[in-house]
Order: sequence, then structure tokens, then C-alpha cells
Amino acid sequence: MSARTTDDGRPLARTRSFTRRGARMKDRHQAAYDRLAPALVIDVPRPAAALTTVDPGFTLDPAAAFGRTAPLVVEVGSGSGDALLHAAAARPDWDFLAVEVWRPGIGQCLARMGERPLPNVRFVEADAAQALPTLLPAAAAREVWTFFPDPWPKTRHRKRRLVGPAFARTVHRLLQPAGTWRLATDWDDYAEHARAVLDEASGFTLASTERAPLRPVTRFEAKGVAAGRRITDLAYRRV
Ligand SMILES: C[S@@+](CC[C@H](N)C(=O)[O-])C[C@H]1O[C@@H](n2cnc3c(N)ncnc32)[C@H](O)[C@@H]1O
Repeated sequence: MSARTTDDGRPLARTRSFTRRGARMKDRHQAAYDRLAPALVIDVPRPAAALTTVDPGFTLDPAAAFGRTAPLVVEVGSGSGDALLHAAAARPDWDFLAVEVWRPGIGQCLARMGERPLPNVRFVEADAAQALPTLLPAAAAREVWTFFPDPWPKTRHRKRRLVGPAFARTVHRLLQPAGTWRLATDWDDYAEHARAVLDEASGFTLASTERAPLRPVTRFEAKGVAAGRRITDLAYRRV
């Protein structure tokens, strides 16, 4: 992937799907991060001084990262790990790579793992929109999950939404044939937007609108329900 530049060669600012939230962690989360990150958070090469981007020349080998070959789920925006921890415990025969841009979320997730880290979970701390086009080999993933992506409900912020035509091409490349992209959102407007994007994108077909089998009630789902919002699940299959 070549970096987009201005006419005089400076890198173009990217529209980000995330805002820089505080990097401070609770002591407990920081302690878990310090203890477990060396083994579980993959030390990816980054362009100089970058915290959330990954060197586009780097390719992660899942078999090397997990020490085995197994069906791979890539969860984008794992947050504090509600779905990740539940699913990884339920499917020890699958591997789970979480791509999360917010370090305190990773710290919280590692703290929740406690003394017994799940052997089938790894993290990459990065902006998935920047990293995923090049981070993994094509067709590396059995499934890609985007559960409760940041909704950006204001009209002027919609261009920040993670799900869009470019990200659909990224996920398509990442999925193996017949692999599945699972999405969930508590914003009707985001659900309609995702359907429009994916119905338009080539190489996907809508496979299900049932609740994703391994998706527990995350705190974002609970918040949405408490606010009276409807939950939509979408599963698109790569064809
Ligand atoms: C609303 S939370 C949902 C968390 C989790 N999926 C859940 O259901 O509980 C969205 C998460 O996506 C992360 N995120 C947003 N944009 C991202 C990006 N471009 N790359 C990686 N993570 C991102 C945020 O940091 C946040 O943790």
C-alpha cells in the first residue's frame, strides 16, 4: 500500500474512525499489560514515532504468532474484550487476533484474563483501517468481526465510520473463500449504512441476520438496549 501524499510530498492526514482517548490505565490493567503484553501483544514494526500505524512492509505470519495452524478470527475493535474472551474460551480450537487501537482496552482485556491467559488470543495495537490492508496474508482469516464499531451518528462525522467501501475491500482480501464478516450494531442508521456498503461491494453475499453464534451481550449492546436501540447482526459471506 503506498502512502497518499500531498503535491509537495507530505503524507495526507487520514480520516480516522477513532478519537485519541486517554492512554492512562488503571494500575491493575497496567500491571496486567506489563506482565502479559510481551507474550500476547505482537510487537509490530511501525513507521518512525507512530503509535497506531504498522509498517506496510510487514506481514504477520499467524502460524508463527500462535505457534500452530488453526482457523483464524480477526476481531476489529475488541474493546475491553467481552466478545473476544468469551469466544476464545468457547473455541479453543480457533485462534483470535484482536486489532484494537486503544491500549487501555487491551490492558483491561489482559487483566480480565487474569492468571490464565488464553493461549489462542493475540493482540495488535493498531488502527485496523491502516494496518489490515497489509498486516496479514490474503485469505488468512476464517472470520472477521466488527461488533459495535464506533457509531459516529452525526451526519458530519459519518465519513469516520470504519465500515465503508475501502474497509470492505480490506476485509474481502483478508477472508478466505466462504469466510464470514460478522457485524453488529445498535444504531439502525449504521446497520443500513453497512448493508448498503456490503450489498454494493463486490464479492460478498448476505448470509444471515441472526445473532452471531459466539457473540455474548457486550457492554455496548447492553447500553444500546438500555437506551431503547435495536441490535442488528449482519453476516456477509465472501463469494
Ligand atoms: C464501541 S467500542 C466496541 C467494543 C467491542 N467490540 C464491544 O462490542 O464491546 C469500539 C471499539 O473499536 C475501537 N476502534 C475504533 N476504531 C478502530 C480502528 N480503526 N482500529 C482498531 N480499533 C478501533 C475502539 O477503540 C473501541 O475499543
